[in-house]
Amino acid sequence: MSYHTICKTEELPVGEMKKVNVEGRKIAIYHLKDGIYATQSSCTHVMANLTKGKIVDDCKVQCPLHRAQFDIKTGEVVTWANFPPGIQALNFIRGEKSLKTYPVIVEDELIKVDV
Ligand code: FES
Repeated sequence: MSYHTICKTEELPVGEMKKVNVEGRKIAIYHLKDGIYATQSSCTHVMANLTKGKIVDDCKVQCPLHRAQFDIKTGEVVTWANFPPGIQALNFIRGEKSLKTYPVIVEDELIKVDV
């Protein structure tokens, strides 16, 4: 395992997320009430930046573009792209796909991610 320091925990308050680049990978870091998690930052639908979306119910991230929702802890699709009306036609060729997740640890108040 190769953990990379991202930032201090105080720099990512509970309820917020941020995008970082680690060894060429674009990663979203989320601070939920029960811990800190990481997924790929690009939506698996058509690659929108998830950190421009929002955290829903302290457990899901909603894509800003077509409103797909993913479980932040597992990366699994909760709701696939559904906005605007008619987007389902694109879903025929862009089927549901989970986000990649990454292990996160906190040591000495530093958030570290294993890529
Ligand atoms: S790009 Fe994320 S739902 Fe379409």
